[in-house]
Amino acid sequence: MPTKKIHPDLASVLLTETQIARRVNALGRELKKLYGDEEITIVTIMNGALLFTADLIRAIDNPVRIDCIRTTSYGAGTESHGAPKLVHGLTLDMNGRHVLLLDDILDTGKTLSLISDMIRGVHPASLRVCVLLDKKARRVVPFEADLVGFQIPDKFVVGYGLDFAERYRNLKMIGVLKPETQKA
Ligand code: IMP
Ligand code: MG
Repeated sequence: MPTKKIHPDLASVLLTETQIARRVNALGRELKKLYGDEEITIVTIMNGALLFTADLIRAIDNPVRIDCIRTTSYGAGTESHGAPKLVHGLTLDMNGRHVLLLDDILDTGKTLSLISDMIRGVHPASLRVCVLLDKKARRVVPFEADLVGFQIPDKFVVGYGLDFAERYRNLKMIGVLKPETQKA
């Protein structure tokens, strides 16, 4: 049953559990069209893309291999500090594979451009990028994803994998935090 109750720390709900589920399933259908029955090597950026990845891979029936990587994050704020760094890199071979890079949100573009360049350097057969959310207004580095779940306004959001100081990742919906909670 979809959760109707809004978390007390949220000022508003941007995307409901149902809206997210529908869109993730639609992305699965788009992926199926792009990849046919090919095996897909998924590179997913922890921790934000955890829930998105779990749902998206169950929306396709392709054989998948999954590699989880980790970049430095926001820490306990809502603004990223400087250049992202890779803190846990690839463990699977990417050479000659169809690689699909997944992240929760495309914001400044710094993380995904860094990771895409790194993957391109290990010679995949193809590389596509899929993000659940895209905050176009915030872009600092020119970067576009091949598949986008939702375009969203320039607001700091949490839920469905996205955190504030590592909290709220387990919310089923995506919402905007109350300003007083963002300072806590
Ligand atoms: P970028 O390198 O600025 O594009 O940042 C991407 C990363 O910043 C994402 O993988 C998220 O972890 C984080 N991020 C960006 N915007 C938000 C947000 O609104 N809520 C939570 N995390 C965010
Ligand atoms: Mg992230």
